[in-house]
Amino acid sequence: MKKSSIALIGFMGVGKTAVGRKLAERLDKEFIELDDLIERRAGKTISTIFQKEGEEAFRELEIGVVKEVSGRKSVVIACGGGVVLNKINIDRLKKECLIVYLTASPEVVLKRTAADKTQRPLLEVADKTLTVKELLYFRKPFYEQAADIIIDTSKLDVGSVTEQIIDKVKENESFT
Ligand code: S3P
Repeated sequence: MKKSSIALIGFMGVGKTAVGRKLAERLDKEFIELDDLIERRAGKTISTIFQKEGEEAFRELEIGVVKEVSGRKSVVIACGGGVVLNKINIDRLKKECLIVYLTASPEVVLKRTAADKTQRPLLEVADKTLTVKELLYFRKPFYEQAADIIIDTSKLDVGSVTEQIIDKVKENESFT
């Protein structure tokens, strides 16, 4: 059965949200931002959830929203960077989505996350460079294993990443 949805995965700051919004527009699909959905369902910000309830509780909420949206057809889903940490999320997403993994070098991640206003509790640490490198190193195999398509965004702007995704998903025989 052909898939009509796309899920964007990858580390914080690789551009999942900006690219996802543009991609949805270009492909005439609905855009879903999982972190926004978590905040709406929980009635709290991601920062508050991490602070008051901890990362485990956040991951449970994340599993809940992935379950909620994973059957949707013709949508583009921007996932939070840690969605790959629970395999159940990827198993669910794979039913209707091609999984596109956006990568970027640690230097680019640090630059982009410093420049945007999104609050990222996991990066509120003394040594951001070390944290980014460690998390990237730990997560890389999870992202790679989940990915149908991989795009290095380090030297690309949002528009170019979007066009590359469109080219690649159109070549993919399991996408409609
Ligand atoms: C997280 C990434 C964030 C958000 C939360 C945890 C992670 O999303 O889900 O802060 O574990 O990498 P973005 O990747 O959209 O920043």
